[in-house]
Amino acid sequence: MGNLRKFLKKILKEILPDKKTERELKSLAKKVLRVANKKAKKYKAKAMIVGSITRDTWLPDKKEFDIFILFPKDLPIAKLEEYGLKVGKEIVKELKGTFTLKYAQHPYLSAKVNDIEIDIVPCYNIKNIAEFKSPVDRTPFHVKYLEKHLKKNQANEVRILKKFLKSHNLYGADAKTEGFSGYLCELLIIKYKTFENLLKASLNWKIQEIIDLENYYKKTEYQNLKKIFKGQPLIVIDPTDKERNVAAALSIKNFFKFKKIAKDFLENPCEKTFYGTKNYLTDFEFTNLRIKRGTQILMIKFVPPKVVPDILWPQLRKFAERLEGILEERKYEFKVYGKDVYTDENELAIVLIEMEVYSLPNIQKIVGPYVFDEKNSKAFLDAHKDALIGPYVEDDRWVVEVERKFKKAKEKISDSLKKPVEILKAKGIPNYIAEALSKGFEILEGEQIEKLIKERKDVSEFLYNYFFKE
Ligand code: UTP
Ligand code: MN
Ligand code: MN
Repeated sequence: MGNLRKFLKKILKEILPDKKTERELKSLAKKVLRVANKKAKKYKAKAMIVGSITRDTWLPDKKEFDIFILFPKDLPIAKLEEYGLKVGKEIVKELKGTFTLKYAQHPYLSAKVNDIEIDIVPCYNIKNIAEFKSPVDRTPFHVKYLEKHLKKNQANEVRILKKFLKSHNLYGADAKTEGFSGYLCELLIIKYKTFENLLKASLNWKIQEIIDLENYYKKTEYQNLKKIFKGQPLIVIDPTDKERNVAAALSIKNFFKFKKIAKDFLENPCEKTFYGTKNYLTDFEFTNLRIKRGTQILMIKFVPPKVVPDILWPQLRKFAERLEGILEERKYEFKVYGKDVYTDENELAIVLIEMEVYSLPNIQKIVGPYVFDEKNSKAFLDAHKDALIGPYVEDDRWVVEVERKFKKAKEKISDSLKKPVEILKAKGIPNYIAEALSKGFEILEGEQIEKLIKERKDVSEFLYNYFFKE
């Protein structure tokens, strides 16, 4: 047996659930299904177990299963949501569990019974995928497809794949991760049969690789498909719905990251390449790096708004983009070298800005219109009567020199972000972030960043990953 096979066998031993856990999860699922059907009856709905438990592709470090409540398709969406939550709460009550409210396409309940998590999600009961009203309506069709096409001996290949992705922060189609969903993992294993084959094949994936298990499209249509799924680096046609790319959530960055970790693992199959490593930057290394690079680093630090991660992360990324835009407005002459965001989704949110041009002279030259352009020249001269120096002529243009308004990037950021919340929103800063900023923020530099690195391991890891990109 090859090195790689032997190694994966060992991994599998580590990640397979034990019999007791499996029994516990499955017997609870049975019970929940019974209770759910009882409760759903008065809404003419029925319950169905879906997700990884139906195909034995779950990992024991996520003790969770999913139950869908299928409502008649003529029920208005508001009623579906209302009844969905009602049924969920009744189930939880009967099982003496607790619950939290979560949001996807619809609000749904995430229940906890003992230490097992149960997602209770409402959807429409449709006969044909073309009738779907909400993306979750596809899920029952996924169950049926996988039942038929994912072979028993492929379930463990899926488990290995999920663990590999999880270890490298690539598992999940949520906005924070922008990686591979469970269903995507299952389809990839159906396509390539084994984890090993998938990794090997991925090395040859081109950008916008198309995987069409059911051959819905002809090769001549591929060019057009790439246009339809523009900006999406991997195209996996949903076998239950040919209009949908199952890999739509995968970011471009993570597409290439996957190819990279696949290559590293195949070249040297070991704990390190399978589980990945966590790296941290010390305060000392941070300062050394900064001096070596000759850039200035700023961190805008604030308390994140209390919103779900699927809203928080995109808003934070958008905020970083807006900050770059504000700093690079032409008249201010700052230049951003790089940026990144981090949040613990609780008490700390950070936007890191690395500046290529951080500090500018006290004076600023303003180049005006051509002297031959009489109309604009007059306006320029009138507007700059109080200039420090000038107006004078340089080559064939009017020029004045004035005192620069913002000499350091920090001053500009501070000025912009201290504006009232309505102005922040008008500047394109996302709503929840604008509101959070209006409650206060800090701009950290140098020693303050060093201090934060010493206090927080997560920040030190974030900084390592910022500086050492692959
Ligand atoms: P899960 O996220 O629980 O995935 O969604 P999974 O396949 O069971 O994998 P793991 O092992 O828990 O990580 C379960 C099913 O519910 C649907 C998905 O399509 C998936 O098939 N779902 C879940 C949605 O469509 N939307 C949601 O917001 C949540
Ligand atoms: Mn699940
Ligand atoms: Mn789930």
